[in-house]
Amino acid sequence: MKTSVLRIALLALSILGISLLHYLTPLHLPFLHDIFQRLYYLPIILAALWFGFSGGLACSLAVSVVYAPHILFQWGGHLTVEMEKYLEIVLYNIVGGVTGLLAQRERERGVELQKTAEGLEESYRKLQAQSERIIAIEEQLRRAEKLSTLGEMAAVLAHEIRNPLGSIRGTAEILRDDYRPGDAKHEFIEIQIRETERLNRVVEDFLRMARPQPSEKGRCVIQEELETIVTLVSNDARERRIRLVLEPPAADAVVRADGEKLRQAFLNIVINALQATPPEGSVDISTMPCQSDTDSPFYEIRFRDSGAGIDAATMERIFEPFFTTKQDGTGLGLAITRKIIEAHGGTLRVESEPGQGTSVIVRLPAQEETP
Ligand SMILES: Nc1ncnc2c1ncn2[C@@H]1O[C@H](COP(=O)(O)OP(=O)(O)OP(=O)(O)O)[C@@H](O)[C@H]1O
Ligand SMILES: [Mg+2]
Repeated sequence: MKTSVLRIALLALSILGISLLHYLTPLHLPFLHDIFQRLYYLPIILAALWFGFSGGLACSLAVSVVYAPHILFQWGGHLTVEMEKYLEIVLYNIVGGVTGLLAQRERERGVELQKTAEGLEESYRKLQAQSERIIAIEEQLRRAEKLSTLGEMAAVLAHEIRNPLGSIRGTAEILRDDYRPGDAKHEFIEIQIRETERLNRVVEDFLRMARPQPSEKGRCVIQEELETIVTLVSNDARERRIRLVLEPPAADAVVRADGEKLRQAFLNIVINALQATPPEGSVDISTMPCQSDTDSPFYEIRFRDSGAGIDAATMERIFEPFFTTKQDGTGLGLAITRKIIEAHGGTLRVESEPGQGTSVIVRLPAQEETP
């Protein structure tokens, strides 16, 4: 807007200037008048370039109106000279109109080109988003394949290990009754029973991951599930001298989920966080509602610890079944957790800065509350 006003002012000034030259220059200097006559083309062409057809024509008409009295009253009587000058006025208008028309067309073509370029860019963005989705789906398929082989192995393993484990535990319990508590042998048998239980848990974890059990989804208030988990591990956190904080959410976050599975997933994440955090460190859990343009509303649950963090090489493998950096870890925690979250239509992401800490970010679709 501002530049348009400036341009109009410049055009008006130049027409005024050239006209003054015409009116004030004595007629016995015709060669100067010839030059001034041509000078009018400058504002006319500029107006046509800046404002298109109507601008060019308006400027040439303005020039005609200002210039005509000069021919009529100052040159009047020199018929041949006048004729040539009137012809020049016709030319002004032709040049103003034609140049304006051409400039306008050029500008319209530029706008069209711009639109086409934007359309192309949009298509490119969509194509890129789609190819990213395809890559993600491929990755999921690859994982599913890995897990299904694992499932078959798990079924065989469970069969082969669980039954003898049951017998070992049963007989150990019978043997334990032969010794009084405090007796060294009683302690050994206790250890034996505990270790059998641990083995049994590993097999169960294994099975849970491999065989998707029918889940019972219902209304789940995230904060309540988190409170249960915090109660469950608060003792452990206290012993480790870690500050465990569950932040209150701004509003109740409700999802459709299998509460037990969700608790299992959250527990795996919190235990990892506690195990990674040194004494006097902290583990912080918060829930936030999110809404983006493309996705339907979801909740983001963040588990942030001030632990050792995860280096890039480890990060690439943390979701691999059996990958662990712990002496007594099974390496199944995160693999199971991710499976649970994905079965709820959610996503699981881990961000970490070695030496600073780790954030595990769970996103779950919000339940549409029916009134
Ligand atoms: N909060 C965390 N901070 C640092 N490292 C982590 C964290 N969470 C997970 N990890 C890394 O990811 C690996 C895999 O975790 P995952 O829970 O799958 O198995 P695990 O904890 O080793 O074994 P399990 O869960 O059976 O006890 C861990 O061994 C650890 O190296
Ligand atoms: Mg773990």
